[in-house]
Amino acid sequence: MRGARILGTGRALPPRVVTNTDLTKLMDTTEEWIVQRTGVRERRFVDPGTGSSDLGAEAARAAVSRAGISLSDIDFLVFATLTPDYFFPGGGVFVQEMLGLPTVGALDVRTQCTGFLYGLSVAEAYVKGGFFDHVLVIGSEVQSTGLDMSTAGRDVSVIFGDGAGAVVVGPAEEGRGILSSHLHAEGKYARELMCEAPSSLEHPRISHEMLSAGRHLPRMNGRYVFTHAVRRFPEVIREALAANGVSMADLSLVIPHQANLRITQAVANALGVPGEKVYSNVERYGNTTAASIPIALDECVEQGRIREGDLVCLAAFGSGFTWASTLIRW
Ligand code: COA
Repeated sequence: MRGARILGTGRALPPRVVTNTDLTKLMDTTEEWIVQRTGVRERRFVDPGTGSSDLGAEAARAAVSRAGISLSDIDFLVFATLTPDYFFPGGGVFVQEMLGLPTVGALDVRTQCTGFLYGLSVAEAYVKGGFFDHVLVIGSEVQSTGLDMSTAGRDVSVIFGDGAGAVVVGPAEEGRGILSSHLHAEGKYARELMCEAPSSLEHPRISHEMLSAGRHLPRMNGRYVFTHAVRRFPEVIREALAANGVSMADLSLVIPHQANLRITQAVANALGVPGEKVYSNVERYGNTTAASIPIALDECVEQGRIREGDLVCLAAFGSGFTWASTLIRW
């Protein structure tokens, strides 16, 4: 079987920077609280009219260009988001239209913070199996339009930001590129981090009462998420290493989902890897859910932090709960 590797990466961040000080004007919070508990100093928010499909298309164009191929070479696209433009259809088809891709398939992935890695595993399988030669995988989010910016929502709102990242996956010789993907879920914890409405369980699925009760806003059991994240991240990274017969010392870089800085630091400690081997940009963008890993990956490539032959582990944990890792020989 042939291999599959990442041929190019790209990202798109909205230009509007929102600092912690900006948030203190909307809710009862402080710069110190946000930085101490989350590490986030600023995040990007879109202006009205920009959706996750717009950001996704922009990141995809950059990735295709970096891959040195043209859009007409793309055979399939996978779009991961928890913030689609509409309840249906999913955002993938809007990205496909914006990119001018004729009739290639567009698959939406709804596994929140692990969406990009789940999507990447789909591309890996398609390319390794010979179904497609070039698959776009996009993670994109517009969180800002769905956050409770009052004091009641401050535990969640200060964490999240908008952005998109994308990669092109193409063929490689066996043993090079994406070595393996490891995907997990535990639905019994789904309600610990969720957004309830609109809900098909309700008649109608959205109502004034639901809006008044704030059921359209995300809610999170922060401590619960934290506890599970710091256990699952190291576990799934170790799983990837064991599956490939390599050790922590062989790893050049870990790119975790940018949940928050305290989680990233706890993961580095648990793994016993030095902080500089674990990439973080959460201070600049906040948690951009499905977009955070491809944005970080693109920055690492751009900064020369990943070189040919490096062993890189991507890992994610989030709502669902879902968690995943991908091991790559760059
Ligand atoms: N500003 C100021 N105070 C805040 C606040 C904010 N933005 N958000 C919450 N608080 C307050 C709480 O109301 C609480 O006040 P009280 O003690 O008077 O009741 C106090 O701070 C402590 O709240 P608590 O929820 O216990 O804080 P915490 O130490 O658990 O930190 C999180 C909260 C959300 C930062 C933390 O739980 C966390 O990082 N969880 C993981 C979240 C995450 O990464 N989610 C994404 C996963 S993909």
